[in-house]
Amino acid sequence: MPVVAIYPGSFDPITNGHLDLIQRASNHFDRLIVAILRNETKAPLFSVKERMKMLREVVKSYSNVEVDSFDGLLVDYAAARQATVLLRGIRAISDYEFELQMALMNRRLRPEIETVFLMAGEAYSFLSSRLVKEVFSLGGDISGMVPPAVAVRLKKRLPVARSHPAKT
Ligand code: PNS
Repeated sequence: MPVVAIYPGSFDPITNGHLDLIQRASNHFDRLIVAILRNETKAPLFSVKERMKMLREVVKSYSNVEVDSFDGLLVDYAAARQATVLLRGIRAISDYEFELQMALMNRRLRPEIETVFLMAGEAYSFLSSRLVKEVFSLGGDISGMVPPAVAVRLKKRLPVARSHPAKT
């Protein structure tokens, strides 16, 4: 039986940390579905359609990786896609508590689906979509943090604030 894994998340936008995880995981599962949560309450910067487009662009070289979106319970979506693995990345210890809670809840809901964690690559362990957006909007350099296609879209979408050093 081919092993199908779901990598769920907001991906608003995808970072090089996510991409590193996708690349590594794609070697270990027959099929990897990167699934964007359709959740308007989070007020995302990019629409689901835009995020799907960016994701598809950056994973196109991985033949066993697919991009999709979902709403409702993640485990129900996974079951509908015949996936037996939920993949999540862990950066620092601070991620652990929330991830543990989600993994245990998901196991309670559907014990046949296993959550598998990969440690984030050390070069990306500080990286998050939220920080990338904040640093970029304040004029900081985000090169190497997101794929070039994402940097281009960020430039179009987010106004960059000018920095005003305090007068002494
Ligand atoms: O990238 P994120 O925002 O950390 O991803 C969170 C996500 C999408 C994995 C989580 O919010 C989720 O699975 N939502 C779907 C609804 C659900 O199943 N909730 C119960 C999870 S315990």
